[in-house]
Amino acid sequence: MQAPQPLPVLDTLGRPLHDLRISVTDRCNFRCVYCMPKEVFGRDHAFLPRAEILDFEEIERVVRVLTGLGVAKVRLTGGEPLVRRNLERLVAMLAPIPGVEDLTLTTNASLLAGKAQELADAGMHRVTVSLDALDDPTFMRMNDVGFPVARVLDGIAAAEAAGLGPIKINSVVRRGLNDHAVLDLAGHFRGTGHTVRFIEYMDVGHSNGWRMDDVVPAAEIVATIDARWSLEPIGPAYRGEVANRYRYRDGAGEVGVIASVTQPFCGDCTRLRLSADGQLFTCLFATRGHDLRGLLRSGATDADLADSLSALWRVRDDRYSELRTADTVELPKVEMSYIGG
Ligand code: GTP
Ligand code: 5AD
Ligand code: SF4
Ligand code: SF4
Repeated sequence: MQAPQPLPVLDTLGRPLHDLRISVTDRCNFRCVYCMPKEVFGRDHAFLPRAEILDFEEIERVVRVLTGLGVAKVRLTGGEPLVRRNLERLVAMLAPIPGVEDLTLTTNASLLAGKAQELADAGMHRVTVSLDALDDPTFMRMNDVGFPVARVLDGIAAAEAAGLGPIKINSVVRRGLNDHAVLDLAGHFRGTGHTVRFIEYMDVGHSNGWRMDDVVPAAEIVATIDARWSLEPIGPAYRGEVANRYRYRDGAGEVGVIASVTQPFCGDCTRLRLSADGQLFTCLFATRGHDLRGLLRSGATDADLADSLSALWRVRDDRYSELRTADTVELPKVEMSYIGG
């Protein structure tokens, strides 16, 4: 018998392991231009073969072991997580694990209207919806599959009705593409209890052709909203929150900005990522993962897994966003659709 691991497990920069983001599929029914551009993710793109993808039992086991090392927050991502069949079955397996305090999903909401109630019944706590514009021409230009805004709004309404709110709406802002969506989205969700968070366009992966000129700095986004509806900053809801929060002075709720390019937050980064094929990544901008699937399928015991996972976390020194330079932008980083957002 192994002695129980001491908690918390800290990395070389003193950061505890607290969040696990699980990509359940590398597929998506959208082709957002900043994430899965059609030129790269075309008809003949080789997605992961089924045999390489972790099954729900394997994922459940990883989560159980990781809660023993401090993980309390679990987020399902993709690709688009709802294209994975029977996702509610995985939710029902993860929700009862002792130590899972927050179980959430990041989705494009295209399939949410038909799934929200099942997810809630299975034990999902809340959902985060990605929505980059409120007008169809812009949104369709961004999702690049002609998907209309109204159906995303239907998904949000269904999630709210199922008790999965308040909902966070994530919007990536890319200069020249959807700058105008900032006021549209802020105005639409003001007073609804849902919170829009504007994300600086990041140089994740290596297929989106990122340039610093495409980034709209968070400070500019805040100034734009503040000029229309007066804002005041409020503190983080919890340690390590990635969004900077602002309150509307008129009481209509809050908005957030995620300034990962202009104000990196690596100092408090407590996130571990698991890809659909069982590779672990200690940073969103990693160039390589650590093979957990091999270990899972080689007869390792839970204690072996715990040892290996805590050893991986203890040597972690990632802080990519703080070190970003013109050179690092060129690194062959893994794609966001593979590693999860
Ligand atoms: P809540 O628990 O709802 O507050 O979620 P969260 O703050 O973990 O945020 P979410 O998972 O919705 O992430 C929002 C966006 O922030 C992601 O889509 C990424 O664009 C960015 N983001 C999240 N985590 C990281 C990270 O570790 N590094 C960087 N650079 N960006 C991140
Ligand atoms: N920069 C910032 N955010 C991104 N996302 C995907 N690609 C990028 C990028 N290059 C966001 C999506 C979604 C989440 C999963 O990650 O919009 O909200
Ligand atoms: Fe799909 Fe989300 Fe990437 Fe868009 S950002 S292509 S919805 S995974
Ligand atoms: Fe964490 Fe890496 Fe993002 Fe920094 S760049 S916050 S270390 S995932």
